[in-house]
Amino acid sequence: MAVQISPSILSADFARLADEAARVPNADWLHVDVMDNHFVPNLTLGLPVVEALLKATATPIDCHLMIEDPDRWAPAYAEAGAGSVTIHAEAAKAPVRTLRQLRSLGARAGLALNPATAVEPYEDILGEVDMLLLMTVEPGFGGQRFLDVVLPKIRRTRALIERHGGQIWLQVDGGVAPDTIERCAEAGADVFVAGSAVYGAADPSVAIDRLRALASSA
Ligand code: DX5
Ligand code: ZN
Repeated sequence: MAVQISPSILSADFARLADEAARVPNADWLHVDVMDNHFVPNLTLGLPVVEALLKATATPIDCHLMIEDPDRWAPAYAEAGAGSVTIHAEAAKAPVRTLRQLRSLGARAGLALNPATAVEPYEDILGEVDMLLLMTVEPGFGGQRFLDVVLPKIRRTRALIERHGGQIWLQVDGGVAPDTIERCAEAGADVFVAGSAVYGAADPSVAIDRLRALASSA
């Protein structure tokens, strides 16, 4: 399993996003949290900012849509050129259709689950999914404490993925930091989102190297 690190620009300086992207040349992805103040109690940014970022960086964009009605809004992010687009299972009304649409537009199709959402009901649609995102905090804000209660689900999800061929990436998002990343990696995660642990560090690229080393040796 190759470890990938996806720094979340939620903890970056929104007035200088191009510069903030340039500070993490060793990132595999740039994680962009789209929040609509409905699915989550916070509001961040949307398609115009993602389009601007796509022009400003060569790093692939990993869009995490914490929005209502992703069936309607998600395809535009794939059309714009995001390399990965993740919708929430709790918000999607037609996840199979939307995930297929994302793939047909050339993006990797992601499905996200909140801490209290079980993975088992989605087993039959794993063939439509390139990445499962397990939230390790309640979505909406950066800088929250990692929820250990999600660890058993990370293990069960890794086992499910292996039963289905082992191709699906398993991303964790929320509270991922030097003191929690090893637990996530050991449980089976391979793509790690980190906001405050990267952009709160004096040198974000050094923080990424450290996180990658910890996850790789777990
Ligand atoms: C939270 C977002 C995360 C957030 C993580 O709802 O989905 O991507 O940026 O921030 P940290 O790593 O600080 O918990
Ligand atoms: Zn996120």
